[in-house]
Amino acid sequence: MTVVIRVNPLNPEPWGVRFGARIIAEGGLVAFPTETVYGLGANALDGSAARRVFNAKGRPADNPLIVHVSSFDGLRIVAEPPQWLMEPLRKLWPGPLTVVLPRKKVVPDEVTAGLDTVAVRMPAHPVALRLVDESRVPIAAPSANTSTRPSPTRAEHVVEDLWGKVDLVLDGGETFFGVESTILNVEDSRVTVIRPGPYTPEELSKLFPKVEVSIHARGAAADRPIAPGMKYKHYAPTKPLFMAEDRSVLIQLSRELSMRGVNHVVLCSRETSAYISAPTIVLGGQGDLYEVAKNLFHALRVFDKRTEPLGLVEPFNESGVGLAIMNRLRKACGGTVVNDFDQVLREAGISGSTSTLSEPKATHQHIRA
Ligand code: TXA
Ligand code: MG
Repeated sequence: MTVVIRVNPLNPEPWGVRFGARIIAEGGLVAFPTETVYGLGANALDGSAARRVFNAKGRPADNPLIVHVSSFDGLRIVAEPPQWLMEPLRKLWPGPLTVVLPRKKVVPDEVTAGLDTVAVRMPAHPVALRLVDESRVPIAAPSANTSTRPSPTRAEHVVEDLWGKVDLVLDGGETFFGVESTILNVEDSRVTVIRPGPYTPEELSKLFPKVEVSIHARGAAADRPIAPGMKYKHYAPTKPLFMAEDRSVLIQLSRELSMRGVNHVVLCSRETSAYISAPTIVLGGQGDLYEVAKNLFHALRVFDKRTEPLGLVEPFNESGVGLAIMNRLRKACGGTVVNDFDQVLREAGISGSTSTLSEPKATHQHIRA
């Protein structure tokens, strides 16, 4: 059975947090908001509780979980951070940064998928921090979505995916950033961004002498993934979604699809939506990539529920948090970038005569006011 409790995200009601902590302590599953996305939490020191997380999500057992702590003492319970890392970490935590560190034996193999490293983060969200505190154990939590679905940024997304599979959902409203934490590999003295997120390489460069960005960070298909999770399908809609090569290709392709009667929806910036006559899902302003990041996963879920058989998405500027946005979008599109009409039809499996398809309605759907 799943129970949903509304909590104040900035000042959570103590009884709600205590209820969640009791479930964690008893080996159950609690979904909770973090500043990035909702997590599906279990006691990180309890292998069988962790196994329940994998079962609920349908997650492959070789994809390890992130361990959430609420203090630096908590960090030292699960990992062995090098001394040089502590100063930058004190500036970055609590915050949307996960670090991959040598693990301590107390962390069960189920959590780390048998690796000798563990991914740890201290989330900057009052509900998450107090839940870890009150549970008195670190909490292992992947994003609280069914495997391959977009990560949840609202409690309703968790309910959509995990109803009946999670004991409690702490509903703290929309998450703040909307894309998952930046993951930093710090196994040796170099630091490497292996998953881009809200902390950008530009910001991290102010705290570390050298920040490398993994070639996988852009989100193209990886032959030899660095984070085990990279080899799996991600954020995948149930119908074809294509990234246009650039904004003008997007506008042109949408025009051609409309002219030939191919129903489609366009995920794009507010500015671009003014040039599109097909239905649009507005991600945010071109100049406000944090707004785009916040809306992204909800938009992918909205797209999935619409009746149009295919979608086009606008590429965004890859600087700053744009790197994380493009990483998630490329994965959602399965890596396909399109630049001509026939390619779209071919890749979407729509052949020859499209004249029987109805003309799309010129409605604009704005997912945020
Ligand atoms: O913002 C976030 O990080 C959210 C919230 C809930 O904290 N969590 C999250 O977890 O995104 P998840 O499980 O969806 O993604 C964790 C990623 C996976 O790609 C996994 O392979 C990688 O972290 N990972 C976990 N442990 C690792 C390790 N020891 N070495 C390398 N990658 C690791
Ligand atoms: Mg995930």
